[in-house]
Amino acid sequence: MRSAIAISLLALPLTALGAHQERAHRRRHAGLAHSPAYMRRSANYTLQNKFVGEDFLQWDFFDQSDPTDGLVHYLDADAATSAGLATVDCNNVTTLAVDANQTVASGGQRNSVRISSPQTYNSGLFIADFQAMPFGCGIWPAYWTVSINATWPDGGEIDVIEGVNLNTENQITLHSGPDCTLNNTTPTSGHVLGTQCASGPGDDAGCAYAQNDTRSFGAGFNQAGGGVFAHLWNSDGVTFWFFARDEIPQDIKSGNPDPSTWGEAAAIFPSTGCDISSHFYDHAIVLDTTICGDWAGPAYASSGCPGTCDSMVANGTNFLDAKWVINSISVFQ
Ligand SMILES: *[C@@H]1O[C@H](CO)[C@@H](O)[C@H](O)[C@H]1NC(C)=O
Ligand SMILES: *[C@@H]1O[C@H](CO)[C@@H](O)[C@H](O)[C@H]1NC(C)=O
Ligand SMILES: *[C@@H]1O[C@H](CO)[C@@H](O)[C@H](O)[C@H]1NC(C)=O
Ligand SMILES: *[C@@H]1O[C@H](CO)[C@@H](O)[C@H](O)[C@H]1NC(C)=O
Ligand SMILES: *[C@@H]1O[C@H](CO)[C@@H](O)[C@H](O)[C@H]1NC(C)=O
Ligand SMILES: *[C@@H]1O[C@H](CO)[C@@H](O)[C@H](O)[C@H]1NC(C)=O
Ligand SMILES: *[C@@H]1O[C@H](CO)[C@@H](O)[C@H](O)[C@H]1NC(C)=O
Repeated sequence: MRSAIAISLLALPLTALGAHQERAHRRRHAGLAHSPAYMRRSANYTLQNKFVGEDFLQWDFFDQSDPTDGLVHYLDADAATSAGLATVDCNNVTTLAVDANQTVASGGQRNSVRISSPQTYNSGLFIADFQAMPFGCGIWPAYWTVSINATWPDGGEIDVIEGVNLNTENQITLHSGPDCTLNNTTPTSGHVLGTQCASGPGDDAGCAYAQNDTRSFGAGFNQAGGGVFAHLWNSDGVTFWFFARDEIPQDIKSGNPDPSTWGEAAAIFPSTGCDISSHFYDHAIVLDTTICGDWAGPAYASSGCPGTCDSMVANGTNFLDAKWVINSISVFQ
């Protein structure tokens, strides 16, 4: 089901390939603190959930075979914690790692982790603060939300962070059922890769942007000390912002986020081209790291990485820094 797709997209290295379908069914504020109280409240978002530290260990650990055909063995919660792949440090920072110690054959499966929130959402202002993300040859990290009960692509998928191998720009993608396109006229800092959000067998690229910011993905993100990905999902559309560590607005730091002050967005998917509410619903939040599979695999040959993706799985050294280092994920309504 995926192979034809993968081949057709080989010629388009930056085109979205990040579907996660199940195979079986398939400016900142000037001195907020000095603003009058009514201005501080103007955004009026209320914190619904803040996930930090041990909270992530209470999420659902997906332990089935990877629906995107990655060379990973996803561990359940007990195995992941005892293997040291899901840990919390004394500062409440959560790390989700790929195993880097075990011997894995070329083309074999390396232990990894994929977790999803028990909570589901139909809208929200999502603010995710990561210190680092996994990246490197063969590595395919993703932070995304997806409808938990609908048959993909019904119910939609929102990929906030995604990329493969040595990519330097984050890709933001929406996948949906029929009749949903990207129709944006507002300037964005990211550039459009594709406008057809409707996805399915044979065409699962989705509608997508790449961020014009090498701090948004991989080595550049980690070297900048990470940062914050924020997205606002409501009936008007889905809008994304990215702030590298030293550019995080004060209103986010203080827990009173006000997107109206954040300036140009990285990506905007307005409801003019897609009835967002009927195409995106009941989403859980997901974090995973897979290896090779349907995107990093076919993209490997042109990635600048040595050898083959299969051979890289066997190279434990390659996975020493393949880690999500998570400060928190907050959801406001
Ligand atoms: C903020 O939201 C609360 C709860 O929805 C509402 O009662 C209140 O009127 C809102 N305040 C403003 C300034 O919009
Ligand atoms: C650490 O995270 C837990 C939730 O997992 C929270 O209850 C606690 O307040 C946090 N501690 C600090 C110091 O932030
Ligand atoms: C891998 O082994 C190193 C060195 O023995 C150890 O420090 C590290 O915690 C191990 N990592 C995992 C994920 O088990
Ligand atoms: C973003 O990158 C694309 C492709 O490299 C380029 O065409 C475009 O001009 C860039 N946009 C901005 C705002 O830098
Ligand atoms: C795109 O949005 C504009 C309004 O901004 C609307 O007039 C137009 O019909 C939309 N096009 C599509 C294909 O949805
Ligand atoms: C998803 O399906 C399960 C099992 O039928 C059900 O318990 C749960 O409430 C459903 N969740 C949503 C958001 O529809
Ligand atoms: C193994 O991975 C490391 C780290 O990515 C890399 O420097 C090295 O070249 C790799 N070795 C082989 C044989 O590919």
